[in-house]
Amino acid sequence: MKKRLGIIFLFALLFGAFITIWNKSYHQGLEEAYIPIKKDNIINELPSESKVFTRSKHALNYAEMPVDAKYQRSLITYYNNRAYPGAPPSIPHEILQDGIVGGNSCLKCHENGGFVIKYNAYTPVTPHPEMTNCRQCHVESRTKTLFKGNSFYKKTPPKVGINNALLGSPPMIPHALQMRENCLSCHAGSSAPKEIRVSHPERVNCRQCHVPKDKEIKDLDFFTRAN
Ligand code: HEC
Ligand code: HEC
Ligand code: HEC
Ligand code: HEC
Repeated sequence: MKKRLGIIFLFALLFGAFITIWNKSYHQGLEEAYIPIKKDNIINELPSESKVFTRSKHALNYAEMPVDAKYQRSLITYYNNRAYPGAPPSIPHEILQDGIVGGNSCLKCHENGGFVIKYNAYTPVTPHPEMTNCRQCHVESRTKTLFKGNSFYKKTPPKVGINNALLGSPPMIPHALQMRENCLSCHAGSSAPKEIRVSHPERVNCRQCHVPKDKEIKDLDFFTRAN
């Protein structure tokens, strides 16, 4: 009797072990294959295209944003605040505390924009929220006149509205792309100058259709065949 019970117990143990091992291997078989991806297999983005999508999560909000005609900026006021096209604009408002540099203070307003009653204007969105030492490049303007006259003159900015090859085709980008990778920050929303406010902020891959205009093609001469 004792021997028989012992054999039954042994079989039960073996059966239990079988079920456990089978169960484990069955579940392992269901797991997805692990394919380690080597870091250097990932194609790096071109630096000048890297920030095109930075603000694209706001694209649909931009598309629905009504135009607030009373407070729209124009390219004239835009360039009045810059020493030359592409120069960092000066800070047109007072800065209360002289020690502040950026991360916590400037970005509160300049990261996503919005209307500021005190300044009676929409806040321009910064194209480079990651460069937190804002006042390294942006300075307050303290005077309206020069200390001493000089021969410096502002280069005229590229014209807009004439950059299409054909009527209705996407205009070429008339400006350099360095510091201008983040298209939506300047071209969309209430603070965008009215001449360049984009009618289609929801087409987020801007450079799919807009190519840089980096060549002035000169008309050499008429082409005639020798024969
Ligand atoms: C209370 C919100 C607020 C804070 C904080 C703030 N700004 Fe502004 N900023 C504005 C508004 C609004 C304007 C637009 C003013 C105008 O058009 O008259 C502006 C304009 C600017 C401009 C000019 C942009 C252009 O396109 O001409 C610069 C540069 C600037 N701010 C830099 C800074 C820096 C640097 C800091 C931090 C030291 C800062 N701002 C903090 C609201 C703010
Ligand atoms: C390395 C220098 C540098 C730093 C640091 C920097 N900026 Fe700028 N910023 C520029 C330049 C240059 C431009 C002009 C870009 C252009 O017009 O092509 C500019 C443009 C801007 C504009 C105007 C965008 C527009 O509508 O044309 C705002 C607003 C601005 N910066 C805010 C900031 C804030 C806020 C910070 C800190 C978080 C900051 N910047 C840090 C150099 C800098
Ligand atoms: C710092 C602000 C800023 C950024 C960022 C920026 N632009 Fe511009 N863009 C301008 C200004 C200002 C003009 C007007 C012409 C000039 O001054 O260069 C302009 C003009 C244009 C025009 C010509 C419009 C017309 O009607 O002729 C196109 C197209 C354009 N930009 C596309 C882009 C694309 C695409 C990007 C992103 C890769 C971009 N821009 C990023 C400020 C900016
Ligand atoms: C699918 C192609 C396509 C994409 C993507 C695209 N655009 Fe355009 N864009 C066009 C065409 C076409 C026009 C000319 C519209 C016209 O003349 O009526 C245009 C016109 C413009 C203009 C001139 C003003 C206007 O709205 O008519 C600006 C500025 C501009 N685009 C900026 C941008 C920016 C910034 C982005 C990315 C958010 C972008 N575009 C994405 C095709 C595109």
